[in-house]
Amino acid sequence: MSGPLSALDTLGRPVRNLRLSVTDRCNLRCAYCMPEEEYRWLPRSDILTFEEISTLVDAFTDVGVDRVRLTGGEPLLRRDLTQLVALLAAKPALRDIALTTNGILLAENARELRAAGLHRVTVSLDTLRPETFRALVRRDGLDQVLEGIREARAAGFRRIKIDTVLLRGTNDDEIVPLFEYARSVDAELRFIEYMDVGGATRWSMDQVVTRAQVLERLRAEYGMPVPIQDDGSAPAERFLLPDGSTFGIIASTTQPFCASCDRSRLTADGRWLTCLYAIDGHDLRAPLRAGATREELAARIRGTWSARTDRGAEERLAAHERGALVQVEDLRKNPHLEMHTRGG
Ligand code: GTP
Ligand code: 5AD
Ligand code: SF4
Repeated sequence: MSGPLSALDTLGRPVRNLRLSVTDRCNLRCAYCMPEEEYRWLPRSDILTFEEISTLVDAFTDVGVDRVRLTGGEPLLRRDLTQLVALLAAKPALRDIALTTNGILLAENARELRAAGLHRVTVSLDTLRPETFRALVRRDGLDQVLEGIREARAAGFRRIKIDTVLLRGTNDDEIVPLFEYARSVDAELRFIEYMDVGGATRWSMDQVVTRAQVLERLRAEYGMPVPIQDDGSAPAERFLLPDGSTFGIIASTTQPFCASCDRSRLTADGRWLTCLYAIDGHDLRAPLRAGATREELAARIRGTWSARTDRGAEERLAAHERGALVQVEDLRKNPHLEMHTRGG
């Protein structure tokens, strides 16, 4: 539960879940996230130091945040990331510290991350076929990802999640094999609907494999999936199969969870976005570098959150003509619109 001091937005949603993007760089080029050849990166001097991130996180915990997730780009590209994990792990107000990674560098980092106090990892894995992997992410590395998942388990991580973005005609024939694989490594697979977020410049509705289609495929194979009633924590809806195994679906495109959205994101250069679809962020780096105290930062965060009206995914669903959210020319001018900048 959120405490009495927790900020609520105009729709009564608390601020609880903070996604920290620690770098905008990535070592893969996934078709649904970074499909272009060239990208404009954030200037190095703008990137927050770990101490700066730590100060901002303190201010966020003062208004109700108790869960953080490290994202990117690819977060394991950020040098000495374990030091940041250790700083976060020392904060009693945080009850959950997680990492979303593409898995390429996970094998070599898993033990250190665990030792530094990371609680959970989620690994993106969209295919088990090397040729599909290469086509989808335009790099080699499937074996490294699978090795990363093995090492994460060996390092003691439990409740590992695997994120699969389904694209029609690319990996939608792997719903069952991916599910079987996840089960074999004791991980929970979440099927993710391809979203029309910034960065996804080639998005079109006909490539989206919907929640209903995934459920039908799994029903045909294993019998009727039954929804699991948990704490209602978005974004994944979880299901139980007759044989006792579970999986999740993140249906942000056809059934958005905006009504219960308690999440926001901080970019690597200190812009705070109160919605994945938000066009503008709130600059927290400037006040921080100008010497604002933790209390002043918390007051600023509370004020912004109290005025929050965002329902980005629901508004997209209501749009009649739905295509890519942002055109590639606009992305080039403003890298803050990119999914890899705002942390997936
Ligand atoms: P936990 O529920 O804490 O395990 O994490 P998570 O599922 O939020 O994190 P993860 O990084 O695995 O995100 C999974 C997917 O959820 C992403 O690929 C997005 O498709 C979707 N997602 C994450 N954040 C948002 C958000 O703020 N809004 C919407 N609409 N979708 C999101
Ligand atoms: N649609 C859905 N999920 C996406 N991700 C990145 N781009 C998209 C998109 N267009 C996901 C990644 C990863 C998470 C960080 O964001 O697959 O699981
Ligand atoms: Fe939250 Fe915006 Fe995502 Fe909706 S689209 S779930 S409001 S971040």
